[in-house]
Amino acid sequence: MNELFQRPPGFVYSSAQEGRAGQSVLRCEKIPLPTLAERFKTPLYVYSASAIRERVGAFAHAFRNVKHTICYSVKANSNLSILRLLGKLGCGFDVVSGGELERVLRANRRVARKVVFSGVGKTVAEMDAALKADILMFNLESASELEALAQRAAKLKRKARVAFRVNPDVPADTHPYISTGLRKHKFGVPLGEARELYTRVAKAKYLQVAGVSVHIGSQIMDFAPFGAAMERVAELVRQLRGDAHRIEYVDAGGGLGINYKACESADFSKSANEYALAVTRPLRGLGVELLLEPGRSIVGPAGVLLTRVLYRKTNGEKKFVVVDAAMNDLIRPSLYQAEHHIVPVQIGGQNSEVVDIVGPVCESGDFFARDRELSVLNEGDLIAILDAGAYGMALASNYNSRPRPAEVLVDGKSAKLIRKRETLRELLRLEV
Ligand code: LLP
Repeated sequence: MNELFQRPPGFVYSSAQEGRAGQSVLRCEKIPLPTLAERFKTPLYVYSASAIRERVGAFAHAFRNVKHTICYSVKANSNLSILRLLGKLGCGFDVVSGGELERVLRANRRVARKVVFSGVGKTVAEMDAALKADILMFNLESASELEALAQRAAKLKRKARVAFRVNPDVPADTHPYISTGLRKHKFGVPLGEARELYTRVAKAKYLQVAGVSVHIGSQIMDFAPFGAAMERVAELVRQLRGDAHRIEYVDAGGGLGINYKACESADFSKSANEYALAVTRPLRGLGVELLLEPGRSIVGPAGVLLTRVLYRKTNGEKKFVVVDAAMNDLIRPSLYQAEHHIVPVQIGGQNSEVVDIVGPVCESGDFFARDRELSVLNEGDLIAILDAGAYGMALASNYNSRPRPAEVLVDGKSAKLIRKRETLRELLRLEV
């Protein structure tokens, strides 16, 4: 069973120095999680810097034969320290709001020229901020957005490099909320309308055609849809070049899924390689620079949500384990029916039982696992909810007036508090 929980180099069990004899304790890199729980309290997000480095390395290796930039998708985890770490590793960034742009610039002002700005509803203020920062490229999603950007760029006398995000009408097998590549979704412009839009860009004095972009959805485990989307993009690139446009970049978006149900770290190079093959094959011979926008696959398995068992209770046959984290801290199980692997922080000889792991929030939707077989947990025990590094803290809220958790970044033997636990005073600060 132990091997199942080995997620090198981030989260690994080792024989306990603390805790009872015969027990193993889950560590993040060199630090036992109980030490972090003592020091920073729970619920707590814990991230492994080595795991992030390793995953960026695997991604870069998979694409080593093509000119590319990894524009990490900030929405997955936007903590400044994580952005700084990724910036140091050479990453650019995919942002979808003025807030995300501001975070990136604060983390590292010099990376502006590696920033792409996506999203269907960029406001004038957001466009202005991105124009002033001189970002690499705007991924536009409609004719109206094109008009708005043309006006702002002319007003500020700043040149904007532009791509259209096209909607390739390719189905991807994922949760309906995070599938984006079909005509019925709000994203992108239809392939058939793209050429006319690029012609309009070319006529605008302060806009410059730069690329084509696509993003078909998130948590996609099958590589074929990525290939199919790229085939269509490659075809469009040829047509646009035929129309005398200069297409320097193809932005392949994000979306590579992770295996929430099992230990996946070891397989990541393999899936990154297969993904790279699917994406790059259709682009062969085009000589474009590839932009990639991975989010989840970089930071997801590099983080856990550490939480403590408050109470056990039974309702008839059903057994509940109530923990101190809740849906406001990690909403993925409630919102997308996501099944995150959950492991006890200390293991050794426990029997198992079937339980629901639930939080204190007043909704039946507040659960982390239902009817899950887990080793018997007692009040006061710690558990780790795995693969919580992406879309965990980023989607946390104050529902039920719960302050958001703290975040810690572990690197070898060092643990750094990268976001303090929110206080009630901060939570009430804006109210009159
Ligand atoms: N690029 C664009 C334009 C996107 O919309 C997204 C994700 C990404 C890149 C990054 O995709 P990734 O590599 O992380 O799959 N909250 C949901 C996921 C929402 C994804 C939204 N867009 C979840 O927790 O599953």
